This record gives sequence, structure tokens and C-alpha cells, in this order.
Amino acid sequence: MHERNDILTAAAAALRDARSVAVLTGAGVSAESGLSTFRDAQTGHWAKYDPMQLATPEAFRRDPELVTRWYDMRRQAALAANPNDGHRALAEMQRTLAARDGRFTLITQNVDGLHARAGSTDVIELHGSLRHWRCFDCGRAGADLPSPLTEFPTPCDCGGYMRPGVVWFGESLPTGAIDRAAEAAASCDVFLTVGTSAVVYPAAGLIHVAHEAGARTIEINRDATDVSELVTWRLAGPSGDLLPHLMQLAFPTD
Ligand code: OAD
Repeated sequence: MHERNDILTAAAAALRDARSVAVLTGAGVSAESGLSTFRDAQTGHWAKYDPMQLATPEAFRRDPELVTRWYDMRRQAALAANPNDGHRALAEMQRTLAARDGRFTLITQNVDGLHARAGSTDVIELHGSLRHWRCFDCGRAGADLPSPLTEFPTPCDCGGYMRPGVVWFGESLPTGAIDRAAEAAASCDVFLTVGTSAVVYPAAGLIHVAHEAGARTIEINRDATDVSELVTWRLAGPSGDLLPHLMQLAFPTD
């Protein structure tokens, strides 16, 4: 316990002194909002499907109904969820850094939109978003789609089908997103990675970019990951507790 408090204090001091902070989040930051993480077991009907087998263009071509239903289920779950204290602490971190003329960049692998709903702005959504659907064939944006969907798959006027605006395995990241993220990682003083298993590249590579550029690195995660040995400070536990705690230590409000 003593050691954990020392780590928290040291990490908070680094945050307080930082002029530029970059944060990478993953599914763990939304776990306390009730959204299951990617590698945790899915529940109910979906337990028999492997998410890694559903998140590909090949899966959509093979079974567009199944993939459409899965993503619409995830979209409805995200819309029904609320941001938690971890999301709110990161939005507060952004406002605090801005008030001190510091730089703050929030990079997320999440497609649930909860960071923006918690008040974060300019979020780099590396893996796209569940909110913005488009045609798999012609690319037409699906702003007019009902929520929840009523047709599985949902046809487009061109004869193709609508797909979620997320990045699937084997696809490129949104134009500019990884460049902006890499620039922020390479130029920050403190890099914070939260609730990501750090196994999917290029997102996970950002931690290495920051480390190699000399940033101090903090990991907040319930479990140990591939980067736990690399980071300057590892904080083990739920992000909904640790992020507000870290913020309060770094920038006390009372
Ligand atoms: P994962 O599901 O791989 O990892 C979630 C991480 O969060 C794990 O390391 C958990 O230990 C941790 N965790 C769970 N609950 C937590 C909590 N309350 N507080 C802190 N940590 C917690 O999710 P990601 O790393 O986001 O990509 O996955 C990365 C990418 O892999 C996803 O964006 C998705 C997936 O394939 C694409 O769809 C392209």
C-alpha cells in the first residue's frame, strides 16, 4: 500500500510539472460504464462468437447480417451507457492543462464516444466510431440510419450494405489520426496509457514512441500488460478510481 501511494505521488508530480501530456485509452476505461472490453468474454447470445472473427471485412462479406447485428448491439450498449469517473477525470485533465497553457492530447482506441460525452474535446478516435456508419461499397455516409437499425444488413441505394465506421483488422487507420497521435506521443513530457491491453498496433506502438522520445510514462490498468515493465510508473487498479485520485493529487481542488 505504501509503495502504491509513493507511485501515485510520483506520477502526480510528473503530471503537475508536465507542459504536454498525451493519453492513450482502451476498452478498460469504459469497463466501469458497463461496456465489456474486447478481450473479456461477451455475454448471452454473443458468448459463442469471437470478437476478433467479427471485426474484419471478410466477416462482413461472409455474414453481413451477423456483423451488422453485433455492431448495432454494441452501438445501442454504448448509447445506453454513461461516462464514468475515469472519463470525467480525463476531461478535467484537459481543461486543467489548457488553463495552464499546457498541451493535452487524448487518443482512444474506443469506438463508444464516451470521452466526448464526458466533455473531452478533439479526441483522436484511432479506431473510428460506432456512431458514423457508411456504405461498404460506395462509402455514402449513413447519417440517416435509424437507431437501432431495422434491417440487418441495411441496404444502401447503390446496392451495397451499410457498415459501422470502425477500423477493422486489416484496414488502415483514419487518415491523419495516427500521424497526429504519433506526433503527440513523440513530443509529450508525460504519456499516460489507460485500460488497454497494449497488444494492437499501431496504437500500442505509441507507448514505445513516447518512451523512446524520453517521456515519463504511466500505466493505469487492472492487470499487467506487455508494457507494464517498460513504463516509469504502473498503477494497478480500476481507472474509474485511479484517474480521479491521480487528478486530485496532481491538481488538488480542496
Ligand atoms: P482489451 O479488451 O484488449 O483490453 C482492455 C484492458 O483493460 C485489459 O488490459 C484489462 O486488464 C483492462 N481493464 C479492464 N477493466 C479495467 C478497469 N476497470 N480499469 C482499468 N483497466 C481495466 O481492449 P483494448 O486494449 O482497447 O481494435 O483493445 C485494443 C483494440 O483491440 C480495440 O480497439 C479493438 C481490439 O481488437 C479494433 O477493433 C481495431
